[in-house]
Amino acid sequence: MGAPHIGLRGEEIHVAIDDTAILAGCSFDVVPGEVLGLIGPNGSGKSTLLRTVYRAIRPTTGAMWIGEDDVWNMTARQSAQRTAVVTQSASTDFQFSVAEMVLMGRGPHKGLLDRDTAHDRRVVAWALRAVDMTTFRSRVFATLSGGEKQRVLVARALAQESQVLVLDEPTNHLDAHAQLDLLELVRSLGLTTVVALHDLNLAATYCHRVCLLDRGRVVGIAPPRTLLTREVLRDVFRVDGEWLTSPTTGRDHLALTRPATSTTTDTEKP
Ligand SMILES: Nc1ncnc2c1ncn2[C@@H]1O[C@H](COP(=O)(O)OP(=O)(O)OP(=O)(O)O)[C@@H](O)[C@H]1O
Ligand SMILES: [Mg+2]
Repeated sequence: MGAPHIGLRGEEIHVAIDDTAILAGCSFDVVPGEVLGLIGPNGSGKSTLLRTVYRAIRPTTGAMWIGEDDVWNMTARQSAQRTAVVTQSASTDFQFSVAEMVLMGRGPHKGLLDRDTAHDRRVVAWALRAVDMTTFRSRVFATLSGGEKQRVLVARALAQESQVLVLDEPTNHLDAHAQLDLLELVRSLGLTTVVALHDLNLAATYCHRVCLLDRGRVVGIAPPRTLLTREVLRDVFRVDGEWLTSPTTGRDHLALTRPATSTTTDTEKP
């Protein structure tokens, strides 16, 4: 749903909550149509940085640009027209059907009293097909499995027909096949995408570049194989890593092990 390409750029983003610095000057860019992986240990600030992109947290200082526009000078509605989001913990207990959930993605393009158009219905059908959930369209969302829900939430984001796509650990709950399917789809959309991922191999396979966060700072932005050196893996992730090239696919994969020297936490029973 061929929206023209637009880039995304964060400039010296600082976020402090209750006087604690969560992000300490993060700068990054996503070129139009690029899939940028956001990686880093638990608590490094990935979700917080994504929130500043989709206007859920206002940076203490710094600016977030979508194309020529500062996200924080837009209205919430303008932002939602440009940026679609799949978050870590979007759940609903309402009794909406799958099709109704996906139709909500059309919201930012409609007035309060606007009826659904033929275009809305076509987009919803396309989004459900894209995530292979067409046969679930009449099911109640709350009754779906975790993985099925996740795919519907991605469909809802697709239905938004935005230029920028933000995904926070979208492969959570998904089985191995569904993980590859989803990231293949994300990559094929050609949207300007930022996706937080824990699985470094998925990041290496599907992201043009990765942005590595550690304790609220950007360690680097580069293609996965360039950025994820033995030293970085040890310093930031506290793992030993080795890049191996598959003889069948020619793809690079990371083999990770726990360092032998790793300090063990005291797990002995008193
Ligand atoms: N509202 C808040 N109040 C206090 N601390 C917060 C708040 N939001 C985030 N933090 C803290 O900021 C840090 C970064 O959190 P964030 O959720 O961005 O990390 P993350 O990289 O997404 O982690 P994960 O991989 O576990 O999802 C964490 O230490 C978290 O506890
Ligand atoms: Mg997170």
